[in-house]
Amino acid sequence: MAKMLLVLCFLSLAASGFAQASIKKQDIGVYDLKKGDISLKLTNYGAKMMSLVFPDKNGKLGDILLDYRTLEGYINSTSHHGATVGRVANRIRNAHFTLNGIRYNLTANSGNNSIHGGKIGFSHVIWKVKEYQKEAPNPSITFTYHSFDGEEGFPGDLLATVSYTLYGKNQLSIIMKAKALNKATPVNLVNHAFWNLGGHNSGTILNEQVQIFASKITVVDSQLIPTGEFASVKGTPFDFLKPHIVGSRINQLPETKGYDHNFVIDGGNGKKINPAAIVFDKTSGRVMEISTNAPGVQFYSGNKINNVKGKDGAVYQAYAGLCLETQAFPDAVNHPNFPSTIVNPGEEYKHYMFFKFSTKAPHGFS
Ligand SMILES: *[C@@H]1O[C@H](CO)[C@@H](O)[C@H](O)[C@H]1NC(C)=O
Ligand SMILES: *[C@@H]1O[C@H](CO)[C@@H](O)[C@H](O)[C@H]1NC(C)=O
Ligand SMILES: *[C@@H]1O[C@H](CO)[C@@H](O)[C@H](O)[C@H]1NC(C)=O
Repeated sequence: MAKMLLVLCFLSLAASGFAQASIKKQDIGVYDLKKGDISLKLTNYGAKMMSLVFPDKNGKLGDILLDYRTLEGYINSTSHHGATVGRVANRIRNAHFTLNGIRYNLTANSGNNSIHGGKIGFSHVIWKVKEYQKEAPNPSITFTYHSFDGEEGFPGDLLATVSYTLYGKNQLSIIMKAKALNKATPVNLVNHAFWNLGGHNSGTILNEQVQIFASKITVVDSQLIPTGEFASVKGTPFDFLKPHIVGSRINQLPETKGYDHNFVIDGGNGKKINPAAIVFDKTSGRVMEISTNAPGVQFYSGNKINNVKGKDGAVYQAYAGLCLETQAFPDAVNHPNFPSTIVNPGEEYKHYMFFKFSTKAPHGFS
């Protein structure tokens, strides 16, 4: 068993706002998956990716995932680098919703709103390792987490699983599933990886090219919460139907200083797999293609990253990485016109993410 125990000096988490008295260092492991040109490192803390190493066009290896310098630094943070976010990722207005006539109050951890599942959520708990197939032809690891009734205010017990698998030619799948065990509940599990295809400490992503297969976005208010309306991307800085350089229109978004918006994936209906986004870094030649069954993808250009102590001595500043979080629409639980995020007992939530890495400029990119 290649489970490595980490030497963590355990923190007074209660003092930093976490009530995770039950975290024991011997429960935290680090796991490796390797296939083709990809080396992926994960931990069961937050069911999280810690690094993804992939060669550039000249064969030079680079780690293209941002992460904290130490796992301790991550545990201490309120951040979600590479982690599985839940029970409901993104924002819920005023941290409450009504379901089947019952009002549920959630942990408000962003002003009056809930974000990313609450103060602890799923990204700052220890997941169980259900299966670790390091030597399989398609190496994989599956994490599970049993979320209790009332956790962060959400109704009912929920059994969540996340599987990471390397397959094919430099492909990674992340498959998230959840079963409501006794009460209906909203579910929106999301992977919160920060990518920089030039390398996690190569500077900003502002020169990377992005294509997003979305003709619409969900309109947001000043708190970045959907109003319930949709807007066409046509003629706006949100039009990524053809590839654009991330930084080329950021000055048109002075309030957010960049992107932090949910794009409505064309054809996304929760079932069919659709292309969501492509990222191309011309300098390194690296390409990442993402497809999913999710109806939305949050494009965050790392606007608020500020002095984060990263791996290998890096210090991340604004735009050091970008996120393309495939997801349900934010605050869907308060918008009947959005695709429902409710999972009833007996039903299973399924979210598929497929990532393909290469160093060949895709069609339409130059
Ligand atoms: C963890 O948080 C405490 C309290 O904010 C701080 O003093 C300490 O330096 C942090 N440790 C790390 C590794 O970030
Ligand atoms: C939820 O919050 C509202 C408003 O603060 C309050 O009136 C209500 O009693 C709370 N409900 C529960 C179940 O705590
Ligand atoms: C938060 O809610 C309180 C009570 O309803 C209200 O007075 C306050 O203005 C709200 N804050 C924000 C930032 O909306």
